[in-house]
Amino acid sequence: MTTAEPSDLADWVQRTRQGIAEGRFPARAFNDQSVYDLEQKHLFSRAWCFLAHESEIPSAGDYVTRFIGNNNIIVARGEDGTIHANLNMCRHRGNVMCKSEMGNSSHFRCSFHGWTYKNTGQLIGVPYMKEGYEGRLKRKDWAMVPVRIDSYEGLIFGTLDPESESLGEYLGDFRFYLDLYLKHGEQGCEVHGPPDHWLANTDWKICAENFAGDGYHTPVAHQWGFHLGYFPSSGSTHSQGWAASVPGRGHGVGLGHSPNFPPFGGFPPELAEEMKTVFSAEQTEVFSKVRTAVGTVFPNLSFLMQPFSLVPGEPGVRFVTMRLYHPVGPGRMEMYSWCLVPKGASKEYKDAAYRAYTLAFGQAGTFEQDDFENWAKVTRSAASTMVADVDFPYSMGMDSDPDPNFVGPGHVVTPYVNDTNFRNLWSRWGDYLANEV
Ligand SMILES: [Fe+2]
Repeated sequence: MTTAEPSDLADWVQRTRQGIAEGRFPARAFNDQSVYDLEQKHLFSRAWCFLAHESEIPSAGDYVTRFIGNNNIIVARGEDGTIHANLNMCRHRGNVMCKSEMGNSSHFRCSFHGWTYKNTGQLIGVPYMKEGYEGRLKRKDWAMVPVRIDSYEGLIFGTLDPESESLGEYLGDFRFYLDLYLKHGEQGCEVHGPPDHWLANTDWKICAENFAGDGYHTPVAHQWGFHLGYFPSSGSTHSQGWAASVPGRGHGVGLGHSPNFPPFGGFPPELAEEMKTVFSAEQTEVFSKVRTAVGTVFPNLSFLMQPFSLVPGEPGVRFVTMRLYHPVGPGRMEMYSWCLVPKGASKEYKDAAYRAYTLAFGQAGTFEQDDFENWAKVTRSAASTMVADVDFPYSMGMDSDPDPNFVGPGHVVTPYVNDTNFRNLWSRWGDYLANEV
């Protein structure tokens, strides 16, 4: 792996930002210890990062353990129903408190010296307190380290920066497009079971970019899907549609359109009608034209919605997958992949949507295999010795004008096959790495 002195690295970040503005991005960014370290220091320490969906912890005491950057965090529902996030670390000597990924517990007790906390983070038990500390230790001073959280439509985000802007400002106009995945009827959506979760020799940013709307790769990397009939609704139209991004924010979504695909096709008709009552008029107009929607919330959360045929040649069933790319080292990540289903839908539709999801994505999904085969090899190339000065072109669609007839917010260009969203993603990444956010 390439390494650099800090001053060289600062110069490299500035050259990289200039390159992004001119439609280039360096290969080195995808597998380099110093870049990874800088992401931990300036990006994951400040950005709003996804932690969990509220439906993963529906009852008092439910918890999951997740990460923001290299920080392990317990997200738990307290006895009063409110959600709390705390660093998964005992304040006494720093031991990991909770060793499970999910479960239900009103308390966490450290396995080292036995300090005990409520799942809200409050310290309530210190063995040998009176005799040992003789009044010098106050339990209220040694609660677990809290993490600032907020939520949008069931998505719980956290930030390690107590001073940063609100989650609402951070998501901005991208909420318009997020609703397409989340506001499925009056009750919204829920996870269909725990996430698929695995390690991969892939840089997290390759996934974030791909899901910001890479319509270019679909007919090539996933061509079998067309040949075998899993996309009977899309035909050869996969490049039609829009690339929508929120300028300066990094968020972006690719909206694939097929002229022959019915509005809200692939959803049960009664659910489609209910969705229209929840969406705004502008959202209904945009979403009725969308067959596939693949988007990334900067930095490392993505969504995909598309119809997929359970039996080749038959009409597709729409499913939604939500995915989190947790970096664990240069060129190495943990994937969390969920299936989201409309909470108020029938069990029959939920199960069908989950089947469509598992055929395409998740640990054994066919699309997932196609993607990771490519992503792991990009990551391997990025660490080779000659890569230090190699750039990739990101100039597709640099002269695209915004579509004046599109009623959704943000910078929206057509066609869907376009690098506009990626330049926006890398531009925001560069802002963070230069510590200019
Ligand atoms: Fe893909």
